[in-house]
Amino acid sequence: MTVYSKIIGTGSYLPKKKLTNDDLEKIVDTSDEWIIKRVGIKERRIVSEGEDTTATMSEAAARAAIENAGITPKEIDLIIVATATPDFLFPSVACIVQYSLGISNECPAFDLNAACAGFIYGMSVADQYIKVGTAKTVLLIGVESLSRVIDWQDRHTCVLFGDGAGAVVLQASDKPGIIHTNIQANGQFAPLLYSKNSLWDKDEKPKIYMKGREVFKAAVSKLESIVDQTLQQAGMEKSEIDWLIPHQANMRIIKATAMRLSLPMEKVILTIEHHGNTSAASVPLALDHALRLEQIHQGDILMLEAFGAGFAWGAALVKI
Ligand code: ACO
Repeated sequence: MTVYSKIIGTGSYLPKKKLTNDDLEKIVDTSDEWIIKRVGIKERRIVSEGEDTTATMSEAAARAAIENAGITPKEIDLIIVATATPDFLFPSVACIVQYSLGISNECPAFDLNAACAGFIYGMSVADQYIKVGTAKTVLLIGVESLSRVIDWQDRHTCVLFGDGAGAVVLQASDKPGIIHTNIQANGQFAPLLYSKNSLWDKDEKPKIYMKGREVFKAAVSKLESIVDQTLQQAGMEKSEIDWLIPHQANMRIIKATAMRLSLPMEKVILTIEHHGNTSAASVPLALDHALRLEQIHQGDILMLEAFGAGFAWGAALVKI
């Protein structure tokens, strides 16, 4: 019997504090018009000191996903947290969340960093654990507190990102499920998008270094090829996809991938306008929003994709 990893619950969390393009106009030399035209973002959520951490956002999203799945936390036998912005170098966010959720079964728990592609990487890892029978019920979280590593004087990057968390519960099932995942990386491009670890350089202020145009071009080209490959490897056609759930980085990158899949924009889940780029959280946040708004229905076929620092990128075909 084929074992699939089925998404049985989703949840998400956004910090209360909103930062609009108008707010940013007061901090750096930018405009609402520029940000909307070049990227497609109107506002993003930002963690407030003393209110949210990467772990508390993860816990909130996880609790919502567990409730939505109708399971008890103790059924979870693997926890994976995809993040590039953990609260501590160690312990992992996953271990903190295991304890805060009251999961006392000593199940494995670890963080995974594949930057913006982290959630897709996490899906691929969770799927392998479930398929070989090592795990039955996996809690997978994508979470980011990017506002903590942003240089708020750098208009090239500070307008792009936001904070938040999304979570899914995946469970072994004889019904699909994750149909196929495809993850890739090429470390030669690391210098085009990075953030230093300020612990190693005491003079280093938080900052994201990015060659925007090069990242843009690589994102379009790698995402176009990975969605083609993923369909081919799964033996499926473009016409079988009901929804594209893209990483929410830039409206123009999203449109290019939709066009490659011959999908009209009405078949693309968009949260970028209100969330900004929440990196590893963007795909699970969009998935949860679309399910709760009943845009997506049980039985639909979804193409999930993401691209980010590394470069690391990936796609997942999922029957919901
Ligand atoms: N407000 C106003 N003007 C700005 C801003 C801003 N926030 N930022 C840059 N500009 C100016 C530049 O200084 C430049 O002015 P100049 O011509 O006088 O020098 C002009 O706008 C054009 O700048 P470019 O960087 O060439 O603009 P571009 O069209 O490439 O758009 C952007 C920049 C939005 C960053 C785009 O390159 C992009 O989206 N790249 C992908 C980056 C990305 O998504 N990174 C996230 C992580 S990876 C991922 O998630 C896919």
